[in-house]
Amino acid sequence: MSKKIRIAVLVSGGGTNLQALIDAERSGIIKSGRISLVISSNPEAYALKRAESAGIKTAVCQRKDRTQKEFEESIISLLDGNGIELIVLAGFMCILSESFTFRYKKRIINVHPSLIPSFCGKGFYGLRVHQAALDYGVKVTGATVHFVNEIPDGGEIIMQKAVDIIDGDTPETLQKRVMTEAEWKILPLSAEKVCREIIKEQS
Ligand code: GAR
Repeated sequence: MSKKIRIAVLVSGGGTNLQALIDAERSGIIKSGRISLVISSNPEAYALKRAESAGIKTAVCQRKDRTQKEFEESIISLLDGNGIELIVLAGFMCILSESFTFRYKKRIINVHPSLIPSFCGKGFYGLRVHQAALDYGVKVTGATVHFVNEIPDGGEIIMQKAVDIIDGDTPETLQKRVMTEAEWKILPLSAEKVCREIIKEQS
């Protein structure tokens, strides 16, 4: 059997992007990687249930009550212990330090719900991103998958997909459309692309 890259998905909430990745692995859109671990920063995250239902190993790493270094060391020990080669941030609501992102250079990807460089960076997450797009009055938004470096939402772009804004959109309706039309498509495609690149580098 051909080599598969072991993927860890880091989550904090509902996990619809995690579900898209699980479904993409099942349907063969992701064929160069295997989702081997899901780490949640939130013990109540519904994403954990999705992972359990799919038979994927789970772990919880909470940021609170410890230093950033301790938090990241606990994540690193899980990643090392499970032979992880690619980290996918899918609604992971914690900032990762420069030393962490440097350690996993070109090995962490993130999905962001706007067309970077618009509506991104510190403070732009979840519904706030869509509220900002509506407040500005843009007519087109979308989603971006990018490599993660030390600059929030500042790493090299892997894929983007545009989504039209419709009159009467609310942050909630826009979030849903950006997810279904863009995020759930380009995140699995990007994960497959990066897995293939890693396999190529290793051969
Ligand atoms: C997604 O829209 C994701 O793009 C966004 O949070 C949501 C998580 O949903 N991420 C960010 O805003 C990161 N800056 P999910 O838990 O259902 O996948």
